[in-house]
Amino acid sequence: MTTPLIQTQNLTKSYGDKLAVNNVTFEVHPGEVFGFLGPNGAGKTTTIKMIVGLLQPSSGLVKVAGYDINSQSLLAKASSGYVPDTPNLYAKLSGRELLRFVGSLYSMQRAQAERRADELLRMFDLAAAADDTIDSYSHGMQQKTALAAALMHDPKVLVLDEPTVGLDPKSARLIKDILRQMADRGAAVFLSTHILEIAERMCDRIGIINKGQLVAVGTMQELRALGQNAADQTGAASQTGAASLEDIFLDLTGGAEEAAIAEVLL
Ligand SMILES: Nc1ncnc2c1ncn2[C@@H]1O[C@H](COP(=O)(O)OP(=O)(O)OP(=O)(O)O)[C@@H](O)[C@H]1O
Ligand SMILES: [Mg+2]
Repeated sequence: MTTPLIQTQNLTKSYGDKLAVNNVTFEVHPGEVFGFLGPNGAGKTTTIKMIVGLLQPSSGLVKVAGYDINSQSLLAKASSGYVPDTPNLYAKLSGRELLRFVGSLYSMQRAQAERRADELLRMFDLAAAADDTIDSYSHGMQQKTALAAALMHDPKVLVLDEPTVGLDPKSARLIKDILRQMADRGAAVFLSTHILEIAERMCDRIGIINKGQLVAVGTMQELRALGQNAADQTGAASQTGAASLEDIFLDLTGGAEEAAIAEVLL
């Protein structure tokens, strides 16, 4: 068994009385794209902010590349790249300047940072706009720039909060391919989404979070088996025998009744 690149143990965060993340334990291994799937307000962003060290847990543990995010935070942060749900980039820098600046933050040699920036700008189809200021970029171009910045130091761990929101199919495919390549080279990729199709198409394993609790973790096949068991128990066995991720998701997040009501209303 490989050493996990991301590890949480009983991770918990409350905001006052509100338990946003409740006792969440999971691991992501080298080579894996792990999808964190849950409805709005489930606790995805809160979990992610604790993994990347932006938010202090109320209790529990986070390790990134084997380093404790609390007591070895610099080493943990140097091992990871993070793309927030709404990237806040320096609008008056050009894409190229931003990437070089990020390279300097990670103590990269100037020539190495320039080479890496060029490589990423080409890879993300941003070369033609590389010297324009970021405030002239479209939403999707800014998303891609944020991902390029997170990849500058070739991190072992990449954490993305809703990475494909607002991207056209070509850019979404590009990002999917790049994440796959990173995982194939031994990195761990952790991404949150509430879009079932993205989880199903992009991820090797999926964790489903609902109301702060991790309600299921597994490969698509394992989750299907889980969904089938639940359906068998309730006597609602699917005729095809193949529960879709949507069925499993609605079942585990208690959305099935609401979905049935929505169907009646249609
Ligand atoms: N700073 C905060 N103060 C108080 N409550 C918060 C704060 N941030 C998040 N919450 C609450 O914690 C819960 C989890 O929020 P979080 O942003 O982690 O959800 P999410 O799964 O990322 O949702 P979405 O899909 O909408 O992005 C929500 O009920 C939210 O209202
Ligand atoms: Mg969120």
